[in-house]
Amino acid sequence: MRSLRTGSTPASRVTRVLTGALTGFALLGGLLLSAPAAHAADEPLRDLADAKGKVIGTAVTGSKLTGTYGEIAAREFNALTPGNAMKWASVEPARGSFDWAEADRIVDFAEANGQQVRGHTLVWHSQNPDWLTNGTWTAAELRRLMTDHIATEVGRYRGRLATWDVVNEPFNEDGTYRQTLWYNGLGADYIAEALTAARAADPSAKLYINDYNVEGVNAKSTALYNLVRDLKARGVPIDGVGLQAHLILGQVPSTLQQNIQRFADLGVDVAITELDIRIDLPADSAELAQQAAEYRQVVNACVAVDRCAGVTVWGFTDSDSWIPDTFPGQGAATPYDENYAPKPAYHAIAEALGGTTTPPTDACTATYSVVNQWNTGFTGQVRIACDGAALSSWKVGWSYGAGQQITQAWNATCNQSGATVTCSNASYNGTVPDGGSVTFGFNGTWSGSNPVPVVTLG
Ligand code: XIL
Repeated sequence: MRSLRTGSTPASRVTRVLTGALTGFALLGGLLLSAPAAHAADEPLRDLADAKGKVIGTAVTGSKLTGTYGEIAAREFNALTPGNAMKWASVEPARGSFDWAEADRIVDFAEANGQQVRGHTLVWHSQNPDWLTNGTWTAAELRRLMTDHIATEVGRYRGRLATWDVVNEPFNEDGTYRQTLWYNGLGADYIAEALTAARAADPSAKLYINDYNVEGVNAKSTALYNLVRDLKARGVPIDGVGLQAHLILGQVPSTLQQNIQRFADLGVDVAITELDIRIDLPADSAELAQQAAEYRQVVNACVAVDRCAGVTVWGFTDSDSWIPDTFPGQGAATPYDENYAPKPAYHAIAEALGGTTTPPTDACTATYSVVNQWNTGFTGQVRIACDGAALSSWKVGWSYGAGQQITQAWNATCNQSGATVTCSNASYNGTVPDGGSVTFGFNGTWSGSNPVPVVTLG
């Protein structure tokens, strides 16, 4: 059962109101809170993808899988990839000393929510433990280290993972093999040996080779193509290729679908495994619209090819994206903003998966999120953002469905009566400029569950 899902009710619902609407706040609140409109736009991405037989996945950080982050991960995605938790340095930081805590947490969460898991990744040149990288090994020792690692990690999750990225990033841009610990020590056949070891450790997992800059037809993807063709001819177990798709705004390759198709025609599956589309910061609304069009283009290309298994985004929120750290000055690369509000890219993915969305006719929105949660307490946040209008004062209201009680608020004055909470601006933050936003926060208590309420901006 998907115990963390809340039916089709979005946990971070954005309630839109016409700026300046004069409807009495209490009446408006009462009506909207008791009967949130259910329309096609509310259908979670995973339900749309399931109907098409496709994967819509996200990379996740295990320690964050609570509160709003956990609710969105569970509600919107039918597959999870550990962003770092299954890499060698994470699972065996010291030789013979294993730490499976975060990887287990992600796999348990996925199973509780009816999600697939993509194991990532077994044999790579990066994020290896120092003891491995700095050691001096004979070929026989290195081979044994690699196959033991695969047997241990794949064996641990035998039967529970849908897919493994067995080998990650084996090629240079010109299509030659990357000079890595593995290639230098074992030759190019380390790839076949790794795949064979993975198959032995879990015969039911689909085994992939995964790389970046192989989305379009180019020297690197052609080298990958030739490798897969040769592996298949030799009878080496290879089930699919992963196209990472860490893309730059304006640079979706025009040959993406053609490239997916040529791999499919070799008799392997294809997956978009790490999609993000980065933008020079700050991103403006035109760039976010272009980004949406490009997300749509990528998902469309996968939907168009039967053997394209699906699309995984490399983090679903800008607050959990690797881009700002790795590419300074760039970001805004994922489908949700840092406050868990869906961006145009989210709606584009939904539409590419066959959903329909109603274009917003309004200008100011309020978004509620749980930013932290512990045994009996939590910290919440509401963000009021305007695009196309401005506010000089604001009021926000909601009704708690599970007995939550606010104990303290900041940057707003909040009152709770029974389940009904109303918050109004502090003297210094009533103004929300066009294109700007304000936030306020609060602490509260909860027990049993802490669902996100429908918020009304009045
Ligand atoms: C990235 C993670 O997202 C970061 O948190 C980490 O610091 C570096 O690795 N290609 C891959 C992923 O296959 O494993 C990388 O993930 C991003 C590029």
